[in-house]
Amino acid sequence: MSQFVKAAETTDVQPGDCLGVKVEGVFIGIYNIDGNYYAMNNICPHLGGVLTYGFLDDNVVTCPLHMWEFDVQTGKCIWPEQETLPTYPVKIEGNDILVDVDSPQPH
Ligand code: FES
Repeated sequence: MSQFVKAAETTDVQPGDCLGVKVEGVFIGIYNIDGNYYAMNNICPHLGGVLTYGFLDDNVVTCPLHMWEFDVQTGKCIWPEQETLPTYPVKIEGNDILVDVDSPQPH
């Protein structure tokens, strides 16, 4: 069942920035790309690097450990071509960033 939960406030994640937070036991990264917010699982599928400790360039985050790259809008691993990370629906209500971790994409 879809359920949006407050994950952070918009002022916590400025444009071009990201934030790692736990929402209902799921460690996610929230990314602000040109004022739009995206949420993606925050654990690199290679060896567990925390992606929000990496480098964000436009919509691509690079893992700080071995430089795998992920599109934070789709979860797709763009280098090397590996598994896709779950992304989660995000909506903004007032100053709150709400994330639905019960509806990962892709399933
Ligand atoms: S742990 Fe992320 S690239 Fe190795």
